[in-house]
Amino acid sequence: MSRLARFTAVPLLALVATLALIAPSASAQASRYEAEDAACEGTVDSNYAGFSGRGFCNTPNRVGARIEFTVHAETAGTLTLGVKYANGSTAARPADLSVNGTLARSAVAFAPVGAWSSWAVENLTVPVRAGANTVRLAATSAGGLANLDYLDTVRAGGSALPASLQWSSTGPLVFPKSDAAHNIVSVKDPSVVYHNGRYHVFVSVVSANQGYSLAYLSFTDWSQAGAAPLRFLDTTAVGAGYKAAPQVFYFAPQQQWYLTYQIGDNVAYSTTANIADPASWSAPKPFYARTPQTVLDNMGDGQWLDFWTICDSAACHMYSSDDNGNLYRAQTSLARFPNGFSEPVIAMHDPNHHWLFEGANVYRLAGENEYLLMVEAITAGGRIFRSWTSSSVSGPWTPLADTKENPFAAWNNTAFNGTAWTKDISHGELIRSGFDQTLTVGPCDLRFLYQGKDPDVSAPYNLLPWRLGLLTQTNSPC
Ligand code: GCU
Ligand code: CA
Repeated sequence: MSRLARFTAVPLLALVATLALIAPSASAQASRYEAEDAACEGTVDSNYAGFSGRGFCNTPNRVGARIEFTVHAETAGTLTLGVKYANGSTAARPADLSVNGTLARSAVAFAPVGAWSSWAVENLTVPVRAGANTVRLAATSAGGLANLDYLDTVRAGGSALPASLQWSSTGPLVFPKSDAAHNIVSVKDPSVVYHNGRYHVFVSVVSANQGYSLAYLSFTDWSQAGAAPLRFLDTTAVGAGYKAAPQVFYFAPQQQWYLTYQIGDNVAYSTTANIADPASWSAPKPFYARTPQTVLDNMGDGQWLDFWTICDSAACHMYSSDDNGNLYRAQTSLARFPNGFSEPVIAMHDPNHHWLFEGANVYRLAGENEYLLMVEAITAGGRIFRSWTSSSVSGPWTPLADTKENPFAAWNNTAFNGTAWTKDISHGELIRSGFDQTLTVGPCDLRFLYQGKDPDVSAPYNLLPWRLGLLTQTNSPC
């Protein structure tokens, strides 16, 4: 039943009051349709962990095996569907997706996830009509459907951001600096917040022996960034040994700052009450007891890396990548953070691992019921960022600017003053409008601190001469 239809006979004042009451659910998030409540041809099983609700739909192994969801849309247009599935077999479980009897996508892959207790999401944007829509998945191979847990929907389109972005770039602003104990060849992977009148920037630094560690710099203005000293965090409680790809944010419920970073086979965090004092960070604590099985089963020759935490009012979500075409998302409640992160689910997958590579960022757009996802890709022309949006921090994700021709940020939509000092727009951070765990950015004020490098230098990957530059969006419609 349509939500609005229920209210048509109610006097106006009561209607306004009622709408105010339902506003939180109306303003947010995805609608979830559990597979056990849909028309599942087969059985509703619960014998593998990681499902939501009471179980998942297990269809017979044959062509044509199906499930039908009745999906509600407020208005005609497009919805993005997030179909959560497990495929523990070694072959894809392709399915035709039809909406109201019309084929919308043929042979959606439902790629193997390694185990029946490992879960992934297919993000699919489809046309819908206002009201009830029949969304059917029908198997096109003898394996039948993958096991299906649920279908999430969010509206597609209508982003607060333009569908195509243009940027201008500074030259390099932050350079490697060495001291007697650190022979630094590159500065990379920046995370940045503006707090108490200063930018606080955390970076990976790579030394001539190819070791990665973390460093901090702070300044009041971008014109001062080049002069700011690098403070090496390996001499603090953060400690020596491999550490890379920091992310910093203030976790308001606990009134302390978190610095998260990769430590090889895991992700760890340090905390402090004073972001301006680099010596005050606590010793690393890992988020996980060990690398999660879903990651081990899917990372292939890649690595588990580039951890990114963002929270809404209920939960914290940790995104990560594996350089093998998988974007993962794990979750814990706001109350349990930093503990209790779940087994990751594959939130997005691309069979071309370079096309969904690493460096994922997710932000909330200030004043909007909208989140932005950016993921770094490798192209022949250089590193680029692709982008998606969602009305939910957990997706499903609708493409925004996600192609080579229309990237989020790349050499081909960036203007340089004079010769381009870099062809790569690589691992970085948008400048946030706040500093807390909601990672809010102003959609009218997009600036991106990124790593770039001289395109003429060839060197082993770990010795490439990365420096930091700043992009400013030049086609904001605001
Ligand atoms: C196994 C597994 C089921 C799955 C089935 C299949 O039997 O336990 O959950 O649905 O394989 O291949 O479809
Ligand atoms: Ca089955």
